[in-house]
Amino acid sequence: MIDEIRQIQEQSGSQIAGASTLDELVEVERSFTGKASTLVGLKKRLGSLDPEARRTTGLVMNEASEAIRAAVAARRAELTSAAQARLAQAERLDLTEVRAHRSAGHLHLITQTIEELEDVFVGLGFHVAEGPEVEDDWHNFTALNFGQYHPARDMQDTFFVGLGEPREVVMRTHTSPVQIRVMEGQKPPIYSVMPGRVYRNEATDATHLAVFHQLECLVVDRGITFAHLAGTIDRFTKAYFGPGWTSRLRPSYFPFTEPSAEFDIARPDGTWLELGGSGMVHPNVLANCGIDPEEYSGFAFGFGLDRLAATRHGVTDLRELAGTDIRFLEQF
Ligand code: FA5
Repeated sequence: MIDEIRQIQEQSGSQIAGASTLDELVEVERSFTGKASTLVGLKKRLGSLDPEARRTTGLVMNEASEAIRAAVAARRAELTSAAQARLAQAERLDLTEVRAHRSAGHLHLITQTIEELEDVFVGLGFHVAEGPEVEDDWHNFTALNFGQYHPARDMQDTFFVGLGEPREVVMRTHTSPVQIRVMEGQKPPIYSVMPGRVYRNEATDATHLAVFHQLECLVVDRGITFAHLAGTIDRFTKAYFGPGWTSRLRPSYFPFTEPSAEFDIARPDGTWLELGGSGMVHPNVLANCGIDPEEYSGFAFGFGLDRLAATRHGVTDLRELAGTDIRFLEQF
């Protein structure tokens, strides 16, 4: 009987491995372990054997039953995972999006320029401040010592907003109102830079936009002199453009600085570019912000970011920077 059992075990091994579907496997399993199977028939005959033979044959019988059960379980696992893989393949959804010709995009040249300049000034020990683009007359003009009839308040320069009293609310015409907001909110020492967008009612051309960008710099502390102003402008010119570039100051007039100067930068080829205005903060402006001009002095300057970036990158028409031509913008 033992031989017969071993033979059955052997046959079962090849038939179980040969079952190619789960249904076939169930059939094979039934044929070897079901009620009508040879093995179960032999089991029934165990009782007729003498005790010693019954024990030995019983052990072989158990081994065979266990081997068949394990082989069936292993084959079932194989067939199940193969069936699942087939299902996954059949129901697979392709969720990839083909973006072969599109890049992820990048920051606009003006934004890159603002970030780079912020880094330069933070490296020199300055804080970065911001103010609103819609301003009131006090911050944009009056606190900056503009006279009641100063031409910059005129309709030709300023976009007035239809809020409040006539001519009370404006799209800021420069970043200098942020000077006032910083001084109103903080006692000296003040070392701040304020980048942002500004608006003027201008006819646009290659060097003028109606919406452009400036960066304002304000220092208020004890003992600040014109030499600090000149030195800071020269330091930043070299940090942004490179060691071959220098700056110069030319006498000028702004209501909120005294004395005032335009500042230009010299390109390595010797030509000059007018970049911005500057000067010592007017005592009236300090007083308007509750700062004692007898105790403190300061300097301020502000320049056009669009012109600065255009110069460094060889852009000859500022209007390109305000446009949306991707072939132009992608270059930077
Ligand atoms: C001012 O706006 C003063 N607030 C600057 C200042 C700040 C003086 C602090 C003193 C102390 P101005 O109007 O000159 O000054 O403009 C400064 C710079 O902005 C110009 O030199 C130029 O680089 C840029 N700019 C002016 N108008 C335009 C425009 N329409 N398009 C592009 N850039 C412009």
